[in-house]
Amino acid sequence: MADASETFLRDALAGLTAPTKTLPGKYLWDDTGSDLFDRICAHPDYYPTKHEMALLPEVAADVAGIVGAGVGVVEFGAGASRKIRVLLDAMEAPEAYVALDISGDFLAAAIARLAPDYPHVTMTPFAADYSRPIRLPEGLAGKNVLGFFAGTSIGNFSPDEAAGFLARARDTLGVSRFLVGADPTRDPDRLKRAYGACDGLMPALHLNLLARMNRELGADFALDNFRHEARVVDAPFRVEAHLVALRPAIYRLGGREIRFEPGESIRTDTSHKYAPAAFRALAERGGWRPEKMWLDQQGAFSLHLLRG
Ligand SMILES: C[S@@+](CC[C@H](N)C(=O)[O-])C[C@H]1O[C@@H](n2cnc3c(N)ncnc32)[C@H](O)[C@@H]1O
Repeated sequence: MADASETFLRDALAGLTAPTKTLPGKYLWDDTGSDLFDRICAHPDYYPTKHEMALLPEVAADVAGIVGAGVGVVEFGAGASRKIRVLLDAMEAPEAYVALDISGDFLAAAIARLAPDYPHVTMTPFAADYSRPIRLPEGLAGKNVLGFFAGTSIGNFSPDEAAGFLARARDTLGVSRFLVGADPTRDPDRLKRAYGACDGLMPALHLNLLARMNRELGADFALDNFRHEARVVDAPFRVEAHLVALRPAIYRLGGREIRFEPGESIRTDTSHKYAPAAFRALAERGGWRPEKMWLDQQGAFSLHLLRG
């Protein structure tokens, strides 16, 4: 995995030596990060998963009627592969499930748990980075394909990157439909609670990025010199995760010195929030036609079915 480490180091140095320090959110996701996120999903303050899970049975029944029998589902960022069960249970004789995620070991374990419950579905765990072009493993050619991008993951891209991702997904999936989650929440208190402490789980997820750089890239970040902070920011409306330095410090990474003043932060992730009309416009920029949308009663989560 020399290449993966080199890319990680190059991306980390580019972000940490920029005037505003950032790290790409995709490096949050290793075994530890994925496990922490799975626990965050069960935390009462993290509303998106609960609202999406409450909406999914109705969505799955409608989507099953629209896509028909014998579908191959491709999930981007499948994580623990829990939500897919609702879709597979609703669809008529689904044939294949390709689960794609950057956190390969965690994904493989999740599919090993899922597969025995769906003996007639061909399951393929696929470790890949969806911020780059993806070629699916053989086997879906000519199939009736449904893409699935659950949770609030589309919001982790900037709007321009999200349009690019949607266009690449259109190339990957071919003529297909794409079911995409989007979070329309605007309430700053609810957002700060969900992206705040979650009893220490959210800080642990973001601090794991520093721990990963220490472990995998030989860096020497002192984790106890950083506190996690969630900031609600406008234009475009989003939540940003920051690790804020408490004391001045100099750390070493890849032969370079990374200096921090007290209060200076690293932005470790961003979650853009999309009202339904804004998401539809984004999907159209990515080359998809919005076909149907489901919004939960409290307006706290939406799922969009796109046609391409
Ligand atoms: C916020 S979690 C969502 C997990 C699950 N889909 C859900 O809705 O609960 C984001 C998932 O996307 C994966 N991921 C993040 N960036 C990725 C990338 N660039 N390529 C592939 N997978 C990625 C992470 O490993 C993680 O499993």
